[in-house]
Amino acid sequence: MPNKIRAAITGVHGWVPEDKLTNFDLEKMVDTNDEWITSRTGIKERRILRKPGWATSDMCAEAVKGLLEKTGTRPEEVEMLIIGTITGDMIFPDTANTVCDKIGAKNAFGYDINAACSGFLYALATGAQFVANETYKKVVVVGADMMSSIIDYTDRNTCVIFGDGAAAVLLEPRADGTGIQDFVLRADGSGREFLFMKSGGSKSPPTPETVANREHFVYQDGKRVFKYAVEGMVTTVREVLKRNQLDVGDIDWVIPHQANMRIINSVAENLKVPMEKVTINISKYGNTTAGTLGLCMWEYEDRFKKGDNIILTAFGGGFTWGSLYLKWAY
Ligand code: UT7
Repeated sequence: MPNKIRAAITGVHGWVPEDKLTNFDLEKMVDTNDEWITSRTGIKERRILRKPGWATSDMCAEAVKGLLEKTGTRPEEVEMLIIGTITGDMIFPDTANTVCDKIGAKNAFGYDINAACSGFLYALATGAQFVANETYKKVVVVGADMMSSIIDYTDRNTCVIFGDGAAAVLLEPRADGTGIQDFVLRADGSGREFLFMKSGGSKSPPTPETVANREHFVYQDGKRVFKYAVEGMVTTVREVLKRNQLDVGDIDWVIPHQANMRIINSVAENLKVPMEKVTINISKYGNTTAGTLGLCMWEYEDRFKKGDNIILTAFGGGFTWGSLYLKWAY
């Protein structure tokens, strides 16, 4: 019997801006210090997009151009492009269409997925369906956020955490057992009051007052989100392992959302996964929201081997969360 067709990641590429915002820079902007940020979050610096006129679509376009070059794919071959982002260039049109135009993907259609820090996970699971059911052979999935465009740099609760970045993967069909095997995705809209941007949407369109009240920035109840994040990631990783008759010992790598080093440690500890199997780059980039999982994958790509069992897990605004199990394809 022929093997089942699965969507496999056949390449990954990331892009981050050159400009760094260090903890020492932040010390001059708000009442904080390197010691607090390092010990409470594990972050040392983040990248900030300061190129005039550049936005999320430009970061995506750079990541995708690098990906296509690396995988020997012509832009016209891309059939679909999905972007997980909450910082699209504009409310409409969506950023995926802009990116297709910027990279010359003339035959592709696509759309954005708004699932905050779970954006890449949601987009990956979505894109994988079109490949696994043999509708398309080349789907690009991007996770990208320009968090600096929605962060209040006078609010020490949030400005120390977030950064800018983008990463893209190519999904292609494989019948050799590798690729995306399973996922568990969850959402609970009652969490919306703990991590959100108050104004700018239809509920509260922009006015001089909303601007004066600093309502166009991220608000987060950090402590509460922390608790739900650990619980949500641990529960869905366990669920996906159980569904696939896997023990923790069968896992080669866990790629967790990079929100806080203490969250990553706590997830690994709860799951009893040794830290050598956990991808970490939070100290350099901070929390790039939908960018984190792809950027980790990009950075650890050389260490992954064909057939490795990899678990991706994330938690974010919405609330949205989940875990995905894949076998590395190259
Ligand atoms: O990615 C999407 C999902 N997001 C997350 O998963 C993030 C989850 N939350 C977190 O990562 C953490 O809650 C934070 C890093 C946001 C905050 O860390 P915390 O240990 O939960 O601190 P806290 O909010 O409980 O604040 C503790 C103290 C407070 O002072 P008092 O009230 O004890 O005097 C804060 O005012 O630390 C203070 N504080 C700071 N001090 C120095 C808060 N931010 C800062 C700061 N520098 N930047």
